[in-house]
Amino acid sequence: ISKTEKRLRQPIVVVLGHVDHGKTTLLDKIRGTTVVKKEPGEMTQEVGASFVPSYVIEKLAEPLKKVIPIKLQIPGLLFIDTPGHEYFSNLRRRGGSVADIAILVVDITEGLQKQSIESIQILRERKVPFLIAANKIDRIPGWKANNDLPFLETIEKQRNDVKVYLDNLIYNLVSQLANLGFNAERYDRIKDFTKTVAIVPVSAKTGEGIADLLALLAGLTQRYLETRLRFAEGPAKGVILEVKEDPGLGHTIDVIIYDGVLKRNDTIILGGINGIIITKVRGIFVPKPLQDMKVSKYDLTPIDEAYAAAGVKVSAPNLEEALAGSPIYVIEDESKIEQYKKQIEEEIKEVRFYNDIDGIVLKADSLGTLEALVNALQREGIPIRLADIGPISKRDVLEASIVAQRSKEYGIIASFRVRILPGTDTNGIKILYSEIIYQLIEDIKKYINEVKE
Ligand code: GTP
Ligand code: MG
Repeated sequence: ISKTEKRLRQPIVVVLGHVDHGKTTLLDKIRGTTVVKKEPGEMTQEVGASFVPSYVIEKLAEPLKKVIPIKLQIPGLLFIDTPGHEYFSNLRRRGGSVADIAILVVDITEGLQKQSIESIQILRERKVPFLIAANKIDRIPGWKANNDLPFLETIEKQRNDVKVYLDNLIYNLVSQLANLGFNAERYDRIKDFTKTVAIVPVSAKTGEGIADLLALLAGLTQRYLETRLRFAEGPAKGVILEVKEDPGLGHTIDVIIYDGVLKRNDTIILGGINGIIITKVRGIFVPKPLQDMKVSKYDLTPIDEAYAAAGVKVSAPNLEEALAGSPIYVIEDESKIEQYKKQIEEEIKEVRFYNDIDGIVLKADSLGTLEALVNALQREGIPIRLADIGPISKRDVLEASIVAQRSKEYGIIASFRVRILPGTDTNGIKILYSEIIYQLIEDIKKYINEVKE
């Protein structure tokens, strides 16, 4: 077997969870821990993601060797920087997600809340395995913090009643998860990880349990996702995370590459608001190497090529209308253009659609959030007439007006992070707006019920 055949890429990790349960603090802690433990000369930088090299994980997990015996073959873990499932939605990939594994952050003192449950539904829909970071253990009455110690060491230093208290909180969580159809258990008590969701008690504040969390993520992904992580040196496949306008670069796309290699001058194909875009990569950029964590987001360094898995900024002509959440592929052979074009078009059609029925008009800012909203509405049995991307236009108002005449309860426009096109007469049509998926769904349900009554 040649070396490349055996190579595994780094798993892509996302963080989800209820508001205020500690997603941002946890990611910051992981990044901070990594910066401290990094060796000089470690250069890998990412856009929209943070890389934690394997030697850092091995160093941190040293005391856990007996429980999690890992010899890492993966080069490390790639954490998507922006947490939350609104953002996760754009990591879409046909029938699933670009994310290989997720951390669901749960405040152990509060248990599963609304958005935790919504996160689980979305992870299930996108078939992403997850483990649970049971956060804020430092808040347990009587807890004695031991900064940055692995959980299995710090727990041994706690009083007995504190251990019992924690176990009770974990059991509450376990029974909540059982109601959703999942077996779950504290990670060090699990025998079969394919059947049980691992719960890792952590504190994003004190750093306790971070070692366990990283070791488990690395261990589980390389053991159970090996096929998915096998790296081949072919043309890049990725997904557009965000479309931005950058000073000096014009419109650029932030891309997560999950397979292959992206090179300067490559021809790329991607979805746009008004059709497929085919263009040529002008530049690939990553942030300047980190000295500390205060480097400005706009300090970019050009690179010649990027290997999966990676987060990069791509500049190219004609990206103004690029669609966040769209797949992006490198075309290595002109004869394949039609095939890729069809594939992307079909994929987009599943999410943006028109049905001549009495249903609501739905507008969102990206393909990923639109898909998440469509799925959530379908779960609720709410009919959709038009699902599309972009600001609210005359056409949307017209469609909603047609519906309103026949079924007033569905004659509305639900908008997610998009505004009304200037000069558009909304003609008395009810417009709902939110920046949180579940909130918009709740508002839609509430409106429909009110009208029906
Ligand atoms: P949103 O982005 O608003 O959804 O919240 P989040 O999930 O990113 O939570 P965030 O990291 O902002 O944390 C919310 C609050 O909880 C902040 O005041 C944090 O300082 C605090 N917090 C987070 N983790 C811990 C922890 O482990 N222990 C304690 N005591 N506080 C924590
Ligand atoms: Mg946050």
